[in-house]
Amino acid sequence: MSAELGFPEDFLFGTATSATQVEGHCEDTDWSAFAREPGRVRGGATPRIACDHVHRFREDVKLQQALGLGAHRLSLEWARVEPRAGEFDPAAWDHYRAVLGAHRDAGIVPMITVHHFSLPRWLSARGGLLHQDLPALLARFAERAVEALGDLCTLWITINEPNVLAAHGHLLGVWPPGHHSLLEMGRALRNLLRAHEAMFRAMHDAAARKGHALQAGVAHHLRVLEPEAPGRAADRVWTALYGRVFNDWFTQAVCAQQTQDFFGLNYYTRDLVRFSPAHPGEGFMVRKVQPGAEVNDLGWEIYPEGLGRLLDVWAPRAGVPVYITENGIDDADDDQRPRFLVRHLAEVARAIRRGIDVRGYLHWSLMDNFEWAEGYAARFGLVEVDYATQERRPRPSAALYGRIARARAIDRETLAALGE
Ligand code: BGC
Repeated sequence: MSAELGFPEDFLFGTATSATQVEGHCEDTDWSAFAREPGRVRGGATPRIACDHVHRFREDVKLQQALGLGAHRLSLEWARVEPRAGEFDPAAWDHYRAVLGAHRDAGIVPMITVHHFSLPRWLSARGGLLHQDLPALLARFAERAVEALGDLCTLWITINEPNVLAAHGHLLGVWPPGHHSLLEMGRALRNLLRAHEAMFRAMHDAAARKGHALQAGVAHHLRVLEPEAPGRAADRVWTALYGRVFNDWFTQAVCAQQTQDFFGLNYYTRDLVRFSPAHPGEGFMVRKVQPGAEVNDLGWEIYPEGLGRLLDVWAPRAGVPVYITENGIDDADDDQRPRFLVRHLAEVARAIRRGIDVRGYLHWSLMDNFEWAEGYAARFGLVEVDYATQERRPRPSAALYGRIARARAIDRETLAALGE
């Protein structure tokens, strides 16, 4: 039988969400406009109400507490805080202070993401990620956020998944602004890198002025990439190229410039890459899944070993502690999530044993939510949301996660029952 897998005393077990996906009641984002265009979001869904979290956050924090979870990553809705360029709404800061206060009272460590995908409309109307002032505008927003909330939160993410954001909006065209241009994707990514650097400095300056402790990083989205046919040179070359542009470029730059106090890793899946001149709009490739592999409801391969492999590569390059800032599965009936959870947590525990300094694991997501172009069809929640009534119903995997978090260990019986 396998041996129990333990976690360090101060390891953070928690969940992650983002503002646009759960809050509702903010019509000033690029996503609320985009979702209203026919054919953009599955089922014509919009983030108008989402999980109504803006009104129900107290209940949702209690849910986390009841599950035994001790950390939560949330994001700020930029358009709520700065509805018009340069005009910050004090009521919005009060709202986020109330949210953070609820976490503090429940003994839950918060991690704030300043920018998680959505933009205020005043900015998207002026070019969004391509706007030359994006770095300065994001730095100002981040600085204000630290001034307003820095006494209630130490762990901060500047930007969530810059590579995914630039690729989905500017190359694949499935997110706002819906463009298909490799050149634009490159420009967006470069601008986001400048924005991250400016935010990192502005946040540290603000924290120092205010006397707050602060650690900041990026939530890097990394995928395991392999050629579909290792014997086919075109697949090998394209895999390497895709890896350079998508996985490495931004992440390597941040590591080299040392503009992160910790390395945030969002990990979901592996892609097998097939070079395909017939697919220019998808970067001249088709992404496939290992034949016979288990997949989630969206068809993404479940590949827990990939988490360990990415930690082995990136933790030494980063040279700072790591947090798993997202990892999760679209699984409506919860028949795969328990094993998914345990196998990924086991990878983290084994990485820690190998000497990698992983400080926490934040599961995506606390509850079902607005999954961007997939609307409400995808179900990533430990907690099921009934959108007709806004009732929250914890799935069995939520209790399992809570047990592991309380014990700070995956016991032998659980590992054996799940074939680990
Ligand atoms: C994003 C989340 C998203 C999740 C599942 C990540 O790329 O940060 O916003 O819901 O993956 O697709």
